[in-house]
Amino acid sequence: MAAGNGQGDRRVRVQEVGPRDGLQNEPRTVPVGIKVDLIERLAAAGLPAVESGAFVSPKWVPQMADSEEVFRRIERREGVTYPALAPNMKGFERAVAVGVTEVGVFAAASETFSQRNTNCTIEESLERFRPVCAAAREAGVKVQGYVSTVLGCPYEGEIDPGTVADLCGRLYGIGCYRISLGDTIGVGTPAKAAALIDRVAEAVPIDALGIHLHDTYGQALANTLACLERGVRTVDSSVSGLGGCPYAPGAAGNLATEDLIYMLDGLGMETGVDLDAVAAAGAFITGWLGRTPASRVAQAFAGRKAA
Ligand code: HMG
Ligand code: MG
Repeated sequence: MAAGNGQGDRRVRVQEVGPRDGLQNEPRTVPVGIKVDLIERLAAAGLPAVESGAFVSPKWVPQMADSEEVFRRIERREGVTYPALAPNMKGFERAVAVGVTEVGVFAAASETFSQRNTNCTIEESLERFRPVCAAAREAGVKVQGYVSTVLGCPYEGEIDPGTVADLCGRLYGIGCYRISLGDTIGVGTPAKAAALIDRVAEAVPIDALGIHLHDTYGQALANTLACLERGVRTVDSSVSGLGGCPYAPGAAGNLATEDLIYMLDGLGMETGVDLDAVAAAGAFITGWLGRTPASRVAQAFAGRKAA
């Protein structure tokens, strides 16, 4: 594998996004107690980051309206980060008020998606993020910058990698310490994903890049491997493959954490994550939702248990 970040080539940081990306799209609201339980199980499984909420407009995304309550109730483990989305100063202030130490701002590489998801142009979104980054610096809060639709947009189709690289460079320039590349609708394939990483790495150091791949077309694991081979060492995933974006019609969940860990374990990569514990957390939440996990590994575990 190509050299990754300074933590060593075999170390991969797996960032769990299920409690946010996974649950934001659920048709019925998940009670705070269930969210807190899920977050604590995931953190106990060894995941170094568990994205736990979104301080977005409750009118836009009602499922995340209880994020304050979630953050008040989670018992935080040492060494684990609990990021949350904050699209503007209002969101940032709400997040800081409940002790959030890392926020995610989110932009899009396509104008139409930017409008649909955040009601503003790409340029306007950067103007909203500038004060967030400045205030975060002052408060000692880290800011990760998501870029959506990097491998395709539900409204505009193909996206030019140069456009993505330019936006990533600008987000990095205003103070986002990491840029997470979102294949929001999961249309990417490995060669395209690898080429995108190479192009974006001209604008942002490879160790400041992460990937956030939805699995609509079943390519997320293959795309992840292609990106690991280019040196990426931060990968988002969602327990049991939950997830989707309310403003990305037809988008499936993220790459499942169980499938990612199983592959990384098989490659001899180090994650510090206990696969059985993640699978148990997945069984807990999919049981509550009354759903079969999208994760193939979780399905295999369930089959083994039944046998
Ligand atoms: P807007 O309506 O344009 O905002 O929303 P506004 O500034 O015009 O304000 C309108 C009202 O919203 C005001 O209230 C504000 O106070 C309120 P009113 O005066 O009418 O009573 N407001 C807020 N309330 C609470 N928290 C806030 C906030 N901001 C304004 N932070 C906004 C703009 C960005 C807020 C809105 O469009 C929004 O919340 N969008 C979020 C959409 C979203 O959460 N999408 C899913 C997450 S992104 C994603 O899933 C992609 C990702 O996973 C990566 C990938 O997969 O590609 C990250
Ligand atoms: Mg997403």
